[in-house]
Amino acid sequence: MPRTYAIRTFGCQMNEHDSSRAAGLLETIGYRPADSVETADLVLVNTCAVRENADNKLYGTLGHLRTLKAERGTTLVVGGCLAQKDGATVAEKAPWVDVVFGTHNLGSLPDLLLAADSATLPVVELVEQLESFPSALPAKRDVRHHAWVSISVGCNNSCSFCIVPSLRGPEVSRRVGDIVGEVQALVADDVVEVTLLGQNVNSYGRDLEVDGRAGRSLFADLLRALGSVPDLERVRFTSPHPRDFTLDVLDAMAETTNVCEHLHLPLQSGSDRLLKAMRRSYRAERYMDLVRRTRELMPEATLTTDIIVGFPGETDEDFAATMAVVEEARFEQAYTFKYSPRPGTDAAMMVDDFVDDAIVTTRYHALEALTRRHSLESHQRLIGSTQELLVQSPSKTDPTRLSGYTRGHHLVHLPADDRFAPGDLVTTEIREASTNYMIGSPAIDVRRTRAGRATEAALARGEGWQIRHLPPTDPAPESATRRRLPVLPG
Ligand code: 5AD
Ligand code: SF4
Repeated sequence: MPRTYAIRTFGCQMNEHDSSRAAGLLETIGYRPADSVETADLVLVNTCAVRENADNKLYGTLGHLRTLKAERGTTLVVGGCLAQKDGATVAEKAPWVDVVFGTHNLGSLPDLLLAADSATLPVVELVEQLESFPSALPAKRDVRHHAWVSISVGCNNSCSFCIVPSLRGPEVSRRVGDIVGEVQALVADDVVEVTLLGQNVNSYGRDLEVDGRAGRSLFADLLRALGSVPDLERVRFTSPHPRDFTLDVLDAMAETTNVCEHLHLPLQSGSDRLLKAMRRSYRAERYMDLVRRTRELMPEATLTTDIIVGFPGETDEDFAATMAVVEEARFEQAYTFKYSPRPGTDAAMMVDDFVDDAIVTTRYHALEALTRRHSLESHQRLIGSTQELLVQSPSKTDPTRLSGYTRGHHLVHLPADDRFAPGDLVTTEIREASTNYMIGSPAIDVRRTRAGRATEAALARGEGWQIRHLPPTDPAPESATRRRLPVLPG
């Protein structure tokens, strides 16, 4: 009997990407997916430290897993950002864990497991420098038709609220040719949609030398290069940074057919004073200029954002400035977060300026009400339009429906139909709209893909529609609103 594994993923898409690499690595050494955490021989917890009370959640999870280990001898592995931050503490507080590793040495997992076999205490390996680009490692995808592709790791910015640079290190980009090669291989393996990942995709490539020259962002070039990969239907990316956002990226988006009309542009605050304190070196006017240009060039584009409420020193005027930008930008979706002090960051030291919880909560609800209204209105505007959906999965609540995403990343449910399966592209007319999703007509047109056919064949064999049966679980920080698209810091 092969040994089995289960992975619990907390946090952002970068962690999902890393989890798919960890799954791929485990499979190369003979592990197979388990049906549940409870029955797995090995459980890997991929941790997040960007927001929330991550430590308590981790130790809660590890407490539960300790019982499992006592009963079944489960091998326990902790990886990711919190492991990178607190590795030795994890081993001290939870000595029943077998392996702790950080964000830079995912590739060592097989060796660490081997070492753990003959160790009584946790094997801890944390390294400062990236050992190998995670994309160089084998991957196991959640669904057949979609893959995460990391184009850079780390971040050279130092936003005062953000813990990422200290955990993921300075930015390192992958070569355009390597990325295009990986995407071509993915397409040959049935992928029709890729999401490019980087903490700041706009500065992608500045560290690479091309024709003897470095310092230039290559992101627009990359989008255009991916535009000519045959059978690659959709390209998405996250997250750009408003400071580095150059207009050639908007042009590349508008001109490259397979790049989806969706821009996730983190605002963080609409107050210039707070943006300065956050060390986000753009101002509200610059941000709005980007919004206006995007809407002009791609009127059908979806704009989404991240906003932090209650950053130290936030006054009523600062918050009103944020509300004003939101009112004008009319984001299709906004991810709103209550400020959470991250140890070691500059903002966490501004203790005297911390905003009272009750005030933060009131502001948070006001912002949420506004952004939800905009989400609903943006969906209502689409009623009567025809939209192309990439079919994602059967609806969780209603087996007679399938769910899919428009190019603008709106979630749509439509009646299931034996003409298509997850991974296919269908056209539907939008009939109903609510804040979080829309309802589409029976499919008007169906475009089969290799992914759809392969998923259909797997379903016929009774294998289920997913490649891997354990969906990643994001603990949804208590302060996050909707989480259809957990986002990377940016
Ligand atoms: N507190 C609250 N929100 C944060 N984010 C990042 N760090 C913090 C923090 N310390 C939010 C930002 C970022 C998103 C992924 O998480 O809005 O864009
Ligand atoms: Fe880098 Fe984004 Fe964090 Fe700023 S918020 S430091 S750009 S990862």
